[in-house]
Amino acid sequence: MELNVLVLPGDGIGAEVTAQAVRVLNRVADKYKHTLNLTEGLLGGVAIHKTGQPLPEETERLALAADATLMGAVGLPEFDNAPPDKRPEKGLLGIRKALGVFANLRPVRAHPSLLDSSPLKNHLVQGTDMIIVRELTGGIYYGTPRGISGDGLETRAVNTMTYTRAEIERVTRMAFHLARGRRRKVTSVDKSNVLENSQLWRKVVVETAVEFPDIELDHILVDNCAMQLILNPRRFDIVLTENMFGDILSDEGAVLAGSIGMLPSASIGGRRASGAWTGLYEPVHGSAPDIAGQNKANPLGAIGSVAAMLEYSFGLKEEAAEVNRAVEAVLESGRVTADLKPTGTPATTSQTGEAVCEAIV
Ligand code: IPM
Ligand code: MG
Repeated sequence: MELNVLVLPGDGIGAEVTAQAVRVLNRVADKYKHTLNLTEGLLGGVAIHKTGQPLPEETERLALAADATLMGAVGLPEFDNAPPDKRPEKGLLGIRKALGVFANLRPVRAHPSLLDSSPLKNHLVQGTDMIIVRELTGGIYYGTPRGISGDGLETRAVNTMTYTRAEIERVTRMAFHLARGRRRKVTSVDKSNVLENSQLWRKVVVETAVEFPDIELDHILVDNCAMQLILNPRRFDIVLTENMFGDILSDEGAVLAGSIGMLPSASIGGRRASGAWTGLYEPVHGSAPDIAGQNKANPLGAIGSVAAMLEYSFGLKEEAAEVNRAVEAVLESGRVTADLKPTGTPATTSQTGEAVCEAIV
């Protein structure tokens, strides 16, 4: 099979972790005799430095031409006070929108060998296995009006949380389809006791669920969800939620997985001009400028994102399983980075990537 993949390393540790993810992708392509065509593009702070734009037109063009895109991370402290359109994050939001990847899948699993890496008690964390399905191209991240106006005490900032029925329906269907391959339970998260937006969300989820009578559905308010994630994470199978709630809850989920460096993600549902599906694959973690360039960052979230790409964009289930198995083997072997190994000598980013490649035999 021919795999046309665009790589967008982005900022900070993005370059280091994607280098290892690409290494694993090459290893898998080699083993299973796939032809891998890699191109590289600019996104985020590096793109602003080189082109003045966080999402250069060329990057958008390359992404729309590729079968799938692998992204590292975006964000640099030097842009903290930059206007919204000149921030690295704007590039990421732009490419998600351009590709139309409305469903962001963030699996959260407590690996048996990482139970001690979580600050939470083992008996709480053990057995956690959920996917947070985060709506990715709507809600408050994109709603208008938005902006800051006025001055002095009358300075006012506005953001708008907006969803249409169509946007809610399509991500709901995606979540329910996923549930069919798992424990058949969807928990929809909202704030319907306060927000009209969430009232529509809940209504549309309930109405769409009728198409899936074999799947159990329940609802939970986002504040309670934040608590239940820690108190009783095993109660969750598929967690379906809107964009900003999903952003927040998935960082919380990282605590269950032992380290945010572990979490992969797949953003799917986008279509190219040809009608073909496309996907954007990125670890959940950020650019971690404090450890960038030190060969310390955990590449397993990025490597897990490669597994997700193989599965969702290319339908290569066996190859995806092989990568996940290799990651599991590396976790057990202890050749892991400092975030997972508070004592003893940690592996470097590249040693961990190498270990994963070696486990693919
Ligand atoms: C994430 C990140 C991004 C988001 C930022 C970098 C724009 O936090 O993917 O979780 O908020 O979506
Ligand atoms: Mg986030």
